Amino acid sequence: ESTPDLVVVGSGFFGLTIAERCATELGLRVLVLERRHHLGGNAYSEADPETGIEMHVYGAHLFHTSNEKVWDYVNRFTSFTNYQHRVFGQYDGQVYSLPMNLGLINQFFGRSHTPDEARALIAEQASEIETSEATNLEEKAISLIGRPLYEAFIKGYTAKQWQTDPTKLSADIITRLPVRYNFDNRWFNDKYEGLPVDGYTAWLTRMADHPNIEVRLETDFFAPGHEYSADTIKGTVPIVYTGPVDEYFGNSEGRLSWRTVDLEAEVKHVDDFQGCAVMNYNDQDVPWTRIHEFKHFHPERTYISGKTVIVHEYSRFAEDDDEPYYPVNTAEDREKLLKYRELAKKEPMVLFGGRLGTYKYLDMHMAIGSALSMFENKLKPHFAEGAALH
Ligand code: FDA
Repeated sequence: ESTPDLVVVGSGFFGLTIAERCATELGLRVLVLERRHHLGGNAYSEADPETGIEMHVYGAHLFHTSNEKVWDYVNRFTSFTNYQHRVFGQYDGQVYSLPMNLGLINQFFGRSHTPDEARALIAEQASEIETSEATNLEEKAISLIGRPLYEAFIKGYTAKQWQTDPTKLSADIITRLPVRYNFDNRWFNDKYEGLPVDGYTAWLTRMADHPNIEVRLETDFFAPGHEYSADTIKGTVPIVYTGPVDEYFGNSEGRLSWRTVDLEAEVKHVDDFQGCAVMNYNDQDVPWTRIHEFKHFHPERTYISGKTVIVHEYSRFAEDDDEPYYPVNTAEDREKLLKYRELAKKEPMVLFGGRLGTYKYLDMHMAIGSALSMFENKLKPHFAEGAALH
């Protein structure tokens, strides 16, 4: 057994894109280390044992992109359904079609408005506060969409997401709150959208399916004493690291803060529980933020009748042992991150990437796009032309 040309830490979309490109285009032998018992990172999915319904284990994943390069690339490994994401939201005993649009405005205010009438109404309500004078998230939101829409559709949901009263949250968290003055209720406005026909795990597995790629599961880069542990291989082989950047440096500058979500799955003995894939809950006294019903992501599939799986989602700050999901990104976090970036630049033979390695929320297409750029701009020049890695 010979040593690999490249070690990739983490088998999410970022790590697998790097591994696939280096193996296929440069013929490198790539070893991927993954500490979980499965590959794929947070996009991993599996069939619920009782119903066979594909469950996105780390939260619902909808693929969308306007990036042609990324779209061409991902289509090498999977085809996509024509699924279009739409989200509904409960508030005070009614269901509204999100995002905020003319339909929601008409329903909420109890009468029909032309686009111009709705625009004038919201502008008048928003004039209560000047945007430049907003000192917290609540004031900022009211200055953008007015108090009635804020109180119904932003306040409770935001308070639950952040476990913090919106008057105590920074105004910077939101820059815009888009309202559509038409009936368009598609969630994404990217050029391409769909779900992988045979699921995320099949797609991710195909990316790693190359004779030059080995994926070692249940292998933590930082666990001491194995053949490819950090202590042993740092400085001896090029590494692409997609784990948490603070963890790499032993949290020397302090831990970066994250939000996590708790997902509670349950089988319901009905064909259809809520009539859509995602229902948001805007009322503050309902503890969950959303309910997902996964069978609606693939209406083209055949399911056993009389059963469905739903997942309640709860949002909270991550503790040390929780899965990090969304960067909190406070001023202190940003300061720490700058220090980690300096350290990362100086780390010989290691490139940092992906959402954990850069402390950035990245959609899948962004993680893939950024890995393709790292391959073109850093790895290919290094391996094909002998350029320095950094
Ligand atoms: P990812 O986290 O997927 O992979 C990193 C891997 O590294 C993990 O498998 C981890 O176990 C491993 N690892 C870390 N440290 C290690 C170590 N020391 N040793 C070995 N392995 C280690 N995107 C989108 O486009 N549409 C969507 O709808 C959603 N929805 C969504 C919901 C939720 C709740 C979240 C949290 C995220 C999304 N996303 C999304 C974003 C999507 O999950 C994200 O783009 C990809 O996970 C990014 O892939 P990465 O490879 O960067 O990280």
